[in-house]
Amino acid sequence: MDPSRPASPQPAVPPAAGPHAGAPRPLLVSAAPGPLQGEVRVPGDKSISHRALMFAALAEGVTRVEGLLEGEDVLRTADAMRALGARVEGLENGSWRVEGRGIGRLQEPADVLDMGNSGTAARLLAGILATHGFTSVMTGDGSLRGRPMRRVTEPLAATGARFASRAGGRLPLCIEGTGEARPVSYRLPVASAQVKSAILLAGLNARGETRVEEPVPTRDHTENMLRHFGAALFVETDAAGGRVIRLQGRPTLSARDVSVPADPSSAAFPLVAALLVPGSEILLRGVGLNPSRTGLFTTLREMGGFLELRDERVEGGEPVGDLLVRAGALRGVDVPAARAPSMIDEYPVLAVACAAAAGTSRLRGLEELRVKESDRLASTVALLERNGAQVRVDGNDMIVEGAGALRGGGTVETRMDHRLAMSAVVLGLAAREPVRVDDTAFIETSFPGFVPLMDSLGADLGREG
Ligand code: S3P
Repeated sequence: MDPSRPASPQPAVPPAAGPHAGAPRPLLVSAAPGPLQGEVRVPGDKSISHRALMFAALAEGVTRVEGLLEGEDVLRTADAMRALGARVEGLENGSWRVEGRGIGRLQEPADVLDMGNSGTAARLLAGILATHGFTSVMTGDGSLRGRPMRRVTEPLAATGARFASRAGGRLPLCIEGTGEARPVSYRLPVASAQVKSAILLAGLNARGETRVEEPVPTRDHTENMLRHFGAALFVETDAAGGRVIRLQGRPTLSARDVSVPADPSSAAFPLVAALLVPGSEILLRGVGLNPSRTGLFTTLREMGGFLELRDERVEGGEPVGDLLVRAGALRGVDVPAARAPSMIDEYPVLAVACAAAAGTSRLRGLEELRVKESDRLASTVALLERNGAQVRVDGNDMIVEGAGALRGGGTVETRMDHRLAMSAVVLGLAAREPVRVDDTAFIETSFPGFVPLMDSLGADLGREG
């Protein structure tokens, strides 16, 4: 279990600093001593975990959540919902109990809400806070304070809420919420599930119909879970694949149990490691297979990767399955921009696979990578270059010249970015020369237990700090 998990009953005010606020945790990663082998289940889906806690806090009754991700990001959401008056308790084995307060009935927080490293927590919560009639202040760590918030505050201002932020729309953000919110109708200018979700969450406490139009579909966990909790939500898909989502305001959400699948974005790391380390064969159990999240699996198959789905089933309203992965040679790939939202968090580790493949890869339409936990276009390029791979950026596309093998030997700056750190580890496991990762502490935000899990597959990490 994650030692950072708060004991219950928990304090109403989040701690000022999370476990990664201390000294950096460097790691020297040498090539895996042999094939990766075994069966593992990666931690719960981050997107679904945040939403489960938020929706349960807005529901009436007691929700039980199984398989919640107990990573730092989600624990920030748990702290925030507690500070807003919901009773949120971590029980044993990833099981959580949330006693909701009902829509519009959250209470003013006594202190600043610190969302740590989590863009999802900050943006979705902004939607909830916009339509509660009190004032709150939200901040985050150095990475989150650099990320754009106007993408949510602009559409949310149409509810009647008011926002004051630092220059450039950056956190800290002061939210003067309204208890008499107007419903919003908005066409998303960026493909962002966080923006869509913030507007829908605000719409829960607005009179009338909230409408969000997304020209490019993004992950639909908010829509699925709102329906699961009893909201009246309708989705229409047009001929070009765009979607219109309509939500009736002020429903009664009723507590419902939630079962969180293993996170496909976390599965990506052992998956790519197993494709690249010769002779490997691993089984990833219970991986979420929502089609809005599986772009990486499609892409790796196009590269010639062996990925076999077994025992596909539905758990807690989401499709899941076991994924068998076998090492083998990969070839370059051309990934269309339209696929980006379904694998937006997977580009750093995909770029590692592309560098190890034979031939050129072109990854298109990556403008959103510039505003992730780090500027992931720049940080992924640096990750590859420092380790001997040829890569360049052409507009919003990344072009990787695959050499059929990885050299390694570089020091990677992870820039407060968990996925960059894990991608660097994967690179090191498959490279000729050891890779030095400057700080692995941020891995705790989304994948607690990453190093021991990789070790259980035979990675033999952590031999030297
Ligand atoms: C998320 C949406 C994505 C993704 C993030 C989680 C979500 O962000 O990168 O890790 O849970 O809605 P954007 O909405 O900014 O694309």
